[in-house]
Amino acid sequence: MCGIVGVVGGKSVTSLLIDGLKSLEYRGYDSAGIAVINNSEAINIKQVGQVELLERKTNESSLSVAKIGIGHTRWATHGEPTITNAHPHSNADGTVFVVHNGIIENYKEIRRILEKDGYTFISQTDTEVIPHLIDYYLKSNSDFKDAFIKALNDLSGSYAIAAIYTKTPDSIYVARLSSPLLIGVGKDQNYVASDASAIINHTQKVIYLKDYEMATVTTKKVQVHNFKRKADVKPEPESLDFDLEKARLGDFPHYLLKEIFDAPETIKLASAGRIRPKSNIVKLAGLESVQEQLKYIDRIVIVACGTSYYAGLVGEYLIEEIAGIPVEVQVASEFKYRNEPFSKNTALIAISQSGETADTIAAINKVQDYGVLKLGVVNVVGSTISRITDAGVYCHAGPELSVASTKAFIAQVTVLLEIALSLSDGKSKLYKPLINELAEIPTKLISILNQSDKIESLAKKYSKYRDFLYIGRGYAYPCALEGALKLKELTYIHAEGYPAGEMKHGPLAMIDSNFPSFVIATGSSLTEKTLSNVSEIKARGGPIIAVVSEGNKSIKNYTGDVIYIPKTLEQTQPLLVGTVLHLFAYHMAVILGKNVDRPRNLAKSVTVE
Ligand code: F6R
Repeated sequence: MCGIVGVVGGKSVTSLLIDGLKSLEYRGYDSAGIAVINNSEAINIKQVGQVELLERKTNESSLSVAKIGIGHTRWATHGEPTITNAHPHSNADGTVFVVHNGIIENYKEIRRILEKDGYTFISQTDTEVIPHLIDYYLKSNSDFKDAFIKALNDLSGSYAIAAIYTKTPDSIYVARLSSPLLIGVGKDQNYVASDASAIINHTQKVIYLKDYEMATVTTKKVQVHNFKRKADVKPEPESLDFDLEKARLGDFPHYLLKEIFDAPETIKLASAGRIRPKSNIVKLAGLESVQEQLKYIDRIVIVACGTSYYAGLVGEYLIEEIAGIPVEVQVASEFKYRNEPFSKNTALIAISQSGETADTIAAINKVQDYGVLKLGVVNVVGSTISRITDAGVYCHAGPELSVASTKAFIAQVTVLLEIALSLSDGKSKLYKPLINELAEIPTKLISILNQSDKIESLAKKYSKYRDFLYIGRGYAYPCALEGALKLKELTYIHAEGYPAGEMKHGPLAMIDSNFPSFVIATGSSLTEKTLSNVSEIKARGGPIIAVVSEGNKSIKNYTGDVIYIPKTLEQTQPLLVGTVLHLFAYHMAVILGKNVDRPRNLAKSVTVE
């Protein structure tokens, strides 16, 4: 999600802005920018990709003497991630600069009115209406604060805004409505931010702005005004009890558990601004530049490694079922050595949390000369894969610190579902039901996370076993593979994922009372078939843990070790099932005393082949 930082007073405003933006990186973003004022002259610098690239750009210019500035990390919603769409946005004569988090719902209407009045817009963003609107009111002889308030009164939606004006180079103007904004009170320097992590290194004293409040922040003073009630408000600074490391880890004992518990938020972050249930729209800004090419795609090849590969398998089912385009998923390390034909109507989707996985990069490089459209589903902004692909959709899961991928899997499946919906162009009968259901998944996930203790008890019961089989059919099959991988890497226990229908073709021979099976039989047309496999396992004395949908009564005939997930559409089940399997592997690893965040022999980013 977008992030805001601002600094007024002192000497090193530019480097403080860059540091602040770096601390906001964990929220996910795809471009960044700053605007500073130096002797009534403004400098606005923006960059697509990492804040580090923006930093290099700022090093090249002479910004070091600026005493006021605002910065922003943008996560594209209205318009692609480009320098023009990045914040800060300004009015035509470059005197007003604005950064904004949230969505201005009536921006099209405001834009139309301003355009009639001669205003020209250069970006596709909703934010750009704000500096022009302020400019409009400044022209009617308002002072800046006045014009700012008049503009705020015209906006509907949600926002945290920070603005600077070259003619009042001692003040940052901020406002909020349904989007967080706080003011950091320092000594000879004040700060504004959307998130305490951006300013915590400089001050512990903060004022939290409330809805409908705006503030004028100078080096020495903070004046707060409620623009709905038209009344000044006495600012009440609070002390920030905030340890950055703790803020990231919270009360969780391990990053892995925290990241599993991030799942509901991860889905919201991966779909905010992209999935709009009210208007029935799926809008992927990152694919806008290749919309025309996408119309001619008749084959998709997905390449990835490990968990990203399993997310890709879910994506295969989703894209084929929803968009009707044939998909093939290949492990990147195999793909790169195969000799297969490609046509110009093929699209390659590379999935990667880190965006730096050597095999996946090699797979992309392999198709370089075939005219294949190269797309990325990547989490780390500005990473190699995001740069060498033609277009893509960021996962926006924020940094994943634990070596094992959990929230990245959830984000990847969400993004692949969005891609499937977007490619279907609204024609699939699943389009509307899935848009609506995706909005329900975060709540359903909470009910799964609430079962963490129960899953821990099951893990205790099963922690003595040294072999596991994970089975499922349809969408549950890639989940079985992911569950087995997570158990292997976190506990070093042997586990295999199998299509349930394959049991009779070999694996059934392994089953005895020492070989448990983890069965995923969540509600689908295939559940009965999976349950017939379960009866074969039971008949051979194999212990069974089952994940089923609420309301399934027949499972009790086979096992008492059951985890129930809320009812959902078959296509969104992997998001719920994935979280159950992640929790089970986590608890097993803790019970067995393993290093859950740093499993032996593994690296977070596999940058060698
Ligand atoms: C499993 C895991 C790995 C990664 C794989 C690909 O939990 O973390 O299997 O999924 O190494 O990494 P990325 O997604 O960074 O390309």
